[in-house]
Amino acid sequence: MTPQLIDPFQRAVTYLRVSVTDRCDFRCVYCMSENMTFLPKAELLTLEELDRMCSAFIGLGVEKLRITGGEPLVRKGIMTFFDAMSRHLDSGALKELTLTTNGSQLERYAADLYAAGVRRVNVSLDTLDDEKFARITRWGRLPQVLRGIDAAQAAGLRVKINVVALKDFNEDELFRIAEWCAERDMDLTFIEVMPMGDLGNEDRVGQYWSLADVRAELAGRYTLTDLAERTGGPARYVRLEETGQKIGFITPLSHNFCESCNRVRMTCTGQLYLCLGQEDMADLRAPLRISEDDSALIEAIHKAIGLKPKGHDFDYSRQQADGQVSRHMSHTGG
Ligand code: 5AD
Ligand code: SF4
Repeated sequence: MTPQLIDPFQRAVTYLRVSVTDRCDFRCVYCMSENMTFLPKAELLTLEELDRMCSAFIGLGVEKLRITGGEPLVRKGIMTFFDAMSRHLDSGALKELTLTTNGSQLERYAADLYAAGVRRVNVSLDTLDDEKFARITRWGRLPQVLRGIDAAQAAGLRVKINVVALKDFNEDELFRIAEWCAERDMDLTFIEVMPMGDLGNEDRVGQYWSLADVRAELAGRYTLTDLAERTGGPARYVRLEETGQKIGFITPLSHNFCESCNRVRMTCTGQLYLCLGQEDMADLRAPLRISEDDSALIEAIHKAIGLKPKGHDFDYSRQQADGQVSRHMSHTGG
């Protein structure tokens, strides 16, 4: 299908990230506070509304759907939604249905996800140490996540591990994590920590660790080859010649990828964010709820895409006084 969502800078929007819940069974220190208040249920899009919303985007040329949260797999009945989306894979309109998860529920859902047409999952995992894992996620337990990853691979899902790079936290695990991923044939991506959540406020665990430094450390042990491959997002990739594995670096703070940006993000309440680093957004829930017919929604989507900014400036020094973007990742989706 020819993309119909072209923004003012001639970029085609073909990738939608959808947060299906703001809840999570973990409380990662860089993401949430210990005592989060979550949205009342009536605010959330229902599973049927999520289906309508995503189907409208797919009808407008979106080919890739990533389901996020919070933790998407804690949303009640979420498999109904994945099953519903598989019709768009069958028709060929949707090329990829995928999710980002903390892995806690994968043991239970991996086979169902595969059956719905999911072929790849991103699992967030910052450390391979039980005690550190409990500390960074506050509520999470590592063995449960490792069982989830086993289940995902056993079900035939390709797993990518996302590691938030945190100084004085997982710096010492760099090679161990890389080797573990290579052994298990899993891709690996490092993410630069963003000034969100409670970072630096209560726990001092979440310290910024530049990915340039991560890269330099890897280069001290391995031969790195830069890969030209871009996904339209903030990731850059290298290959470790010794292991053949691909490692990604996501630096949301640098804005050198904006010109190829192909994505928008929808919150679990139906607000469309046009750029990760900007506050520009459009409410799609009202036009969705106004009628059972999709025409108001489609008009609102077109109008929203017209607001997509050219790029973002996520420079710490240019933020408000506290250096934070006010919204949480669990609301917008990672
Ligand atoms: N900085 C970087 N990544 C974050 N995530 C959540 N909060 C932050 C942050 N402040 C990531 C998680 C996961 C995805 C859902 O978002 O680690 O990979
Ligand atoms: Fe949950 Fe992911 Fe946020 Fe951690 S980073 S609290 S796993 S949504």
